[in-house]
Amino acid sequence: MQNESVYIYIYIYFSLSLCVFAVPTSENKEGFKLAQVCRFCDIEFTACNATGVCESSCNITSICENPREVCVSAWRRNKGKPIMETMCHNPALPFHGQYLKDYNNSVCLMKQVKGMEDDFYICSCNQEECNDKLFFTDVSAPAKGVEKNPLPVLLVSVVPALIAVVVLLSAFYCYHVFHQQNLKATKTKGIDSETCAIIMSDDDRSDSSSANANSLNHNTELLPIQLDTIVGKGRFAEVYRAKLKQGATDESFQMVAVKIFPYEEYTSWKTEWEIFSDAELRHENVLQFLTAEDRKAERRYWLITAYHERGNLQEFLTEHVIGWDELCRLGGSLARGVAHLHADRTPCGRPKVAIVHRDLKSVNVLVKSDLSCCLCDFGLSLRLHNFMTPEELANSGQVGTARYMAPEVLESRMDLENIESFKQADVYSMALVLWEITSRCSAIGDVREYEPPFGKLKDHLCVESMKDDVIRDRLRPEIPASWTNHAGVHLLSSTIEECWDHDPEARVTAQCVVERFSEISSVVISPLSADTKSAQDSGNDEEEI
Ligand code: ADE
Repeated sequence: MQNESVYIYIYIYFSLSLCVFAVPTSENKEGFKLAQVCRFCDIEFTACNATGVCESSCNITSICENPREVCVSAWRRNKGKPIMETMCHNPALPFHGQYLKDYNNSVCLMKQVKGMEDDFYICSCNQEECNDKLFFTDVSAPAKGVEKNPLPVLLVSVVPALIAVVVLLSAFYCYHVFHQQNLKATKTKGIDSETCAIIMSDDDRSDSSSANANSLNHNTELLPIQLDTIVGKGRFAEVYRAKLKQGATDESFQMVAVKIFPYEEYTSWKTEWEIFSDAELRHENVLQFLTAEDRKAERRYWLITAYHERGNLQEFLTEHVIGWDELCRLGGSLARGVAHLHADRTPCGRPKVAIVHRDLKSVNVLVKSDLSCCLCDFGLSLRLHNFMTPEELANSGQVGTARYMAPEVLESRMDLENIESFKQADVYSMALVLWEITSRCSAIGDVREYEPPFGKLKDHLCVESMKDDVIRDRLRPEIPASWTNHAGVHLLSSTIEECWDHDPEARVTAQCVVERFSEISSVVISPLSADTKSAQDSGNDEEEI
């Protein structure tokens, strides 16, 4: 038994250290993570009695659905009979109420979960079918007899650790050199180094001050948040203004927004949380994400974000007439938000996965206190990995809000071979929002009451009626002749028209709209100052798909 334990240690340590050197089998040449392959039998009776090494007795091998998933196993007794569970699992989510810490292991080291009525063990690992062979040996406690001759254990533990340190240091050095080269390349491409510095320091701040931002709140203790009033209602969730307590007293708190999903809407919560989890998404024109919580006791999922008291763009435009400067600020920042979402590089040149929003509309844009915009509601968004097949893209279906759907989306005739077509559909929707902003700007002359594109908010617009207007009659929101009286509005109107072109290929990109805004606002100096006026509120009963 002593010898057997030493062999088990040697096997485990070599497997763990080998994974430091080996190119992971789950990654392809471009470095994309491929789905893991695991034993997947869910629950089965087992002969394993939770000692030594057990085979899972599961004969089914399955490719995990999601590339983030790893292999997991659990062992417990059910009415005295031992049972084994094998499956794929996303380690960002709890497994039997536990967050997995060992999912980067190459072997499955069973750990006893404390606080359970019966014996209960779980393990996770990230190598092909690694949840088949289960080690019930606690490597942190030396087995009897091993102390007598510690040399083999010392050798197998210290040597791989030393090698791992050397490899990590070399990797860090290579990353540093690569990063410097990247920065140089970015500067030579003409990106303003000042902007880069600002964004970098922003990122740095977010890395250090909230290392947990863009992640699930792994603490079992939930944030001390007191919900206040409801500020928004979507198809899957409700948004509340809330107080995040900062100290012992009730007086010190930070206002936050909490988006609350019922347990049945787990998929929507997960989709939005996965989008927000990408640290590279952070941008001043994208709603700032704080954390996600699984509020088990209330059977609710939460997403906690920054709170913007001016509310959404539709509410803001309903209540205010804006000046030319505000038009440029709102419109330019909206375009910058969309361009960042669509980009495959951050402004500093770091690689990023392009994202499409797929439900851009004035309700999904928030107005910040400095009158710039930020994008919100990523419940229908899609990360455009380079390895997505047309089938995967097609499965994502026709989604969005009928009023804002591009003609090719209304017709379900998008070119799924080309991921750019998803961005082109976003640009169409963005054009409608830019039109809404312009229609409330005093620079156009006579400003009418706020109306959304294609008629009154109360009008029920379904896909079929939108097809008649947008495809059959090629209708677009009206751009009256008076809009040409102002040079800036005239230039902007032409850009809007290019963005809502019937032919998706003819539309300009969001980045091009960003550049147009800086040209327009530098050429046209504000001839009119901002004025504000109150207007009536209006309801929102859009048809959503
Ligand atoms: N409505 C939806 N999300 C919001 C937020 N983060 N702040 C203010 N109003 C909102």
